[in-house]
Amino acid sequence: MLQIEKSVAVITGGSGGIGKALAEFWLKAGGKVVIADVQEKALLACAEELKAHGAEVATLVCNVTREEDCARLADLAIERFGAINLVAPFAGITDDAMLLKTDRETGKVVGKMSLQQFQRVIDINLTGVFLTVRECVERMINHDCRGLICLVSSTGSLGTAGQLNYSSSKAAMSVMPKVLTAEFFRRNIADKIRCMAVAPGYVGTQMVKAIDEKVLGKIIEQVPIGRLIEPEEVVSLVAELYRNEAMAGETVFIHGGLRLGSKG
Ligand SMILES: NC(=O)c1ccc[n+]([C@@H]2O[C@H](COP(=O)([O-])OP(=O)(O)OC[C@H]3O[C@@H](n4cnc5c(N)ncnc54)[C@H](O)[C@@H]3O)[C@@H](O)[C@H]2O)c1
Repeated sequence: MLQIEKSVAVITGGSGGIGKALAEFWLKAGGKVVIADVQEKALLACAEELKAHGAEVATLVCNVTREEDCARLADLAIERFGAINLVAPFAGITDDAMLLKTDRETGKVVGKMSLQQFQRVIDINLTGVFLTVRECVERMINHDCRGLICLVSSTGSLGTAGQLNYSSSKAAMSVMPKVLTAEFFRRNIADKIRCMAVAPGYVGTQMVKAIDEKVLGKIIEQVPIGRLIEPEEVVSLVAELYRNEAMAGETVFIHGGLRLGSKG
């Protein structure tokens, strides 16, 4: 089993939601964190809060869609803490729309998901993860680090109407652990560097709180445990996947029973 104490976590999207909760958990467990986010003000405020739980916090204003920002992030972790043990590329967005919107009366198409709307989500949720993971794993190999790449998929990976962009990006997150584990195996490093994904249902963060209250109420009616998942519950799963080195190449759902049919 791996120990969190003294280990180094690199977290993108680290100033909000699940990323911030992970950073807090990691510090309390005696670890060190590098948090990156595109929102500078929120990042600095978060770093101040986190320092109450331990001084081992480094921050970087970073847009994960930019190759040079991701390289800088990985370098910063090595410069400050000498290692990378957990990579949590959690920066992500939604930008929902139907592929095509039709008029209720005429049935004719009156709107469509724009190219920009599709591409922005793919750029951040997929290309951003690719860049973060590539840069961090390069340093992990070169500095002989042991640890986990923990991606974040979603129940959206199973397909959610109105989220062709988001669902596509999150479906990619559940195949990446398999591809990377196979590649690490070929390179004889699979015993040191593992990859897993967690796939949450609806988690009580800004991303979900932004949903219209009525719609959210209807969503929660479909969750057997009757509530949103807490960010800390997702974090607890990430920590277990980190510690337990038998876990590799898979996606683990954490959704309170969502999509398991009606009450019957
Ligand atoms: N909240 C949920 O219900 C839920 C469910 C399943 C999966 N997820 C996934 O978990 C991850 C975290 O979600 P969250 O709920 O904490 O969201 P959040 O909105 O609270 O946090 C996301 C963070 O990512 C940052 N970010 C956005 N674009 C960025 C960029 N280009 N570069 C760097 N940082 C950027 C934002 O500034 C924000 O701080 C996302 O990948 C999301 O898709 C969330």
